[in-house]
Amino acid sequence: MVKVAPSILSADFCQLGEDIHAVSSADWLHVDVMDGMFVPNISIGVPVVQSIRKHTDMFLDTHLMVEKPGRYVGAFAKAGADLLTVHLEADMPPAIHAALDEMDGLGVKKGIALRPITAAEAVIPYLEKGLDLILVMTVEPGFGGQAFMADQLPKLAAIRGYIEKYCPSCHLEVDGGINAQTARQCVEAGADVLVAGSAVYGAEDIPGAIAALRGA
Ligand code: DX5
Ligand code: ZN
Repeated sequence: MVKVAPSILSADFCQLGEDIHAVSSADWLHVDVMDGMFVPNISIGVPVVQSIRKHTDMFLDTHLMVEKPGRYVGAFAKAGADLLTVHLEADMPPAIHAALDEMDGLGVKKGIALRPITAAEAVIPYLEKGLDLILVMTVEPGFGGQAFMADQLPKLAAIRGYIEKYCPSCHLEVDGGINAQTARQCVEAGADVLVAGSAVYGAEDIPGAIAALRGA
């Protein structure tokens, strides 16, 4: 069963509570954290996650687009994130391993993310230690509303193969330019969690958009 994770990056932050309520028929809530270093944009941080946690029981899928993300694992876990995803490009491998181990110790689910430039094989050393999620970016991280990069589809399929081999319970998530059409291509390539910002919050009928993505 495919999960849909609306990205609140496309919400109106002046009415974030209402905009989260508007997507309550979705499976997860995708929270994009950006530091202005790993990506050129700055979005939200720990205090906002803390407020969201008080407001909703939805599963908080927290995408850390920050340099040296290990610095913030404890703070986001304490704020109430259910899953933390760190980018493989954001630190050296030993530090990424240490960040994932810390998530284990804190009882938070753990994920890794790949920029479009990063090859599928990069996930193997992490899959072998057990992962809850791999996130394949289908745009350059940093902004909502960009065009889907279809050249990432073979990478998705390759990672689905590695997941089946090394860690079958691991989710495979796609993020960037996802709409009902591109979602179908991603699901066919092996994705089972779909992040969507503009396709959900830009829709007239938000529950309908979520259902359309789920049925893709
Ligand atoms: C981009 C973020 C995405 C973004 C997706 O760096 O990671 O989660 O919100 O937005 P859309 O669905 O509009 O491409
Ligand atoms: Zn994201």
